[in-house]
Amino acid sequence: MISIKNSRELSLMREACIISARALQLAGEAVEPGVTTGEIDRLIRKYIESQGAKPSFLGYADYPASACISVNETVIHGIPDKRVIKAGDIVSIDVGAYLNGYHGDNAATFAAGEVSKEAKALMDATRESLYEGIAAATAGNRIGDIGAAVQRYVEMRGYSVVRQFVGHGVGTNLHEDPSVPNFGTPGRGPRLLPGMTLAIEPMINKGGPEVEVLSDGWTTVTKDRELSAHFEHTIAITKDGPVILTMP
Ligand code: MF3
Ligand code: CO
Repeated sequence: MISIKNSRELSLMREACIISARALQLAGEAVEPGVTTGEIDRLIRKYIESQGAKPSFLGYADYPASACISVNETVIHGIPDKRVIKAGDIVSIDVGAYLNGYHGDNAATFAAGEVSKEAKALMDATRESLYEGIAAATAGNRIGDIGAAVQRYVEMRGYSVVRQFVGHGVGTNLHEDPSVPNFGTPGRGPRLLPGMTLAIEPMINKGGPEVEVLSDGWTTVTKDRELSAHFEHTIAITKDGPVILTMP
């Protein structure tokens, strides 16, 4: 079942989303050579809790941290630890906050110091593909229109779309119906209606689309160990078009 929120519910949810967005912004500013992923995670947790909110991921399916921090070939679900970020790394940070009974979920990939031209291009294309997907998320369109827009954009540039993980509905639960793939066929899938809230989150690889989950049960890396980037926003479908809720 896909839940529909009224405007009062959307404004409550927006508060959770704003906290997620500010946490992500803060985390991004902290990305620099010499910092550990664990330090960034603690910063995120402290900020979210200072706002009276809860980190959405902490304890979710026994996930042990407040954020997912995924470096270079790690696609998603990197567990923050003592790993030191180096100049030239690309660092994907995914963070959610729970407030007012609602979750906000967002992610972005940040550069540590100077990164290669190739890394920069991958990050840019991934961010842009998220906005392509968002632009397709208009009432009356279908879920497949979002994925098709993302896929068209990134494949045109020679990158590949991860198939094994997808975006999702988000609201009172972190993961709700519908699934929001970053690939697909225009005109297919559930119809988008005002009041639906979706997490759109392209995971884009420089090499092939295949990924594997490491033995910790979370860390997801590219099979070919090529770079991967990840951007995510929580959006609301409205009669006036998509609205990005995760804005700081
Ligand atoms: N943003 C990710 C997602 O939408 C984060 C989930 S990590 C988890 O799936 F630990 F909470 F599972
Ligand atoms: Co998500």
